[in-house]
Amino acid sequence: MFNKMTLRDLELREKRVLLRVDFNVPLNSNLQITNDKRMRETLPTIQYLIEQNAKIIIVSHLGRPGGKIVPEFSLKPVAEHLRELLKKPIILANDVAGSETYKYVRTMKPGDIVMMENVRFDAREEENDAEFAKELAGVADVYCNDAFGTMHRAHASTCKVADYLPSCIGFLVERELQVLGGALDNPKRPFVVIIGGAKIKDKITLISRLIDVADVVLIGGAMAYTFLRAQGFNMGRSIVEKDKVQLARLLLEKAKTQGVKVVLPIDHVVAGEFSFSAESVTSSTKKFPRAGIGMDIGPASIRLFKYYISKAKTVFWNGPLGVAEFQKFAKGTNEVAKALADAKAFTIVGGGDSAKCIEQLKLQDKINHISTGGGAALQLLESGSLPGLDCIANKN
Ligand code: 3PG
Repeated sequence: MFNKMTLRDLELREKRVLLRVDFNVPLNSNLQITNDKRMRETLPTIQYLIEQNAKIIIVSHLGRPGGKIVPEFSLKPVAEHLRELLKKPIILANDVAGSETYKYVRTMKPGDIVMMENVRFDAREEENDAEFAKELAGVADVYCNDAFGTMHRAHASTCKVADYLPSCIGFLVERELQVLGGALDNPKRPFVVIIGGAKIKDKITLISRLIDVADVVLIGGAMAYTFLRAQGFNMGRSIVEKDKVQLARLLLEKAKTQGVKVVLPIDHVVAGEFSFSAESVTSSTKKFPRAGIGMDIGPASIRLFKYYISKAKTVFWNGPLGVAEFQKFAKGTNEVAKALADAKAFTIVGGGDSAKCIEQLKLQDKINHISTGGGAALQLLESGSLPGLDCIANKN
């Protein structure tokens, strides 16, 4: 499906490789990393470059410092953690392709690693600025993008830089493309998709695209209330996007025309107020209380969703099924996560909140693929490509 140059296609021996990674990892208030998945998943690429005797110059962003030097967004804790993971010295330059970076790069030996400071400390990064891209490219002989989670951004270090160096993708990106691309191209069937989250508005294209490839689409989260409204049900005071009801109707019609089954919740956990401690009752879709607010899918819906998951050969999941940030209303989301872990199907989790849920339940080893990119994974599924991928050279 993708015909991009990979690390295996380039001569890397003693070459300086500019490696764009996505080390945008969560930090707590003591600036300690709370989840290093993205870093660990980049290790095969870094190890390979070390084995190839390349000189590795790492570029990443961290947070959104807005083009200014903001000390809390320094890559210092990230560089320290990488040192521990690789058991190898890592030099962190205090600038981005500035005089200090150049000083360290000049004396690098094969297998050495230098990391630049947060690339978003320079405002030109997010402007995809050509001069800045040339400065980044100037330190290296080859450019490798292994920052899947940032490939939906057309920035200097994810896009423009590829104009000035031979370019390729890293192993993490290759794997993401293989799994997410494969899910759309040639899934083992039945292919069951589970979509949750608050708003249809954010996922219109995704739902429409998934209807084209899935056999069954299970819909939960607040967006289910808009779909149920489109079917004529009263959803009380639940979040319904009134201006999207007609669109929901069209998506349901599209699914019907294409012979795709859309399954909506048949019962709900309903509260009187939107609060983490609100009292709740279970109610069927047909008897939804007029003053009630839907907070989660109900027990019968959980059973129904589990049934379809158990019959699937491929499952893709994105988005919580209820207000999962309130523990009391996280049951639907957690139960679906567990069903995925128990499924015989090839299971794919599309990053973001769903990935967080899987990790909180410590189920990550039981899922075939958890994407390292939330926004990037969705954009890839929606549009079939990503700006950061389009910039990479094609194989001849
Ligand atoms: C992410 O965490 O989604 C990526 O690193 C991209 O970050 P951004 O949304 O700040 O561009």
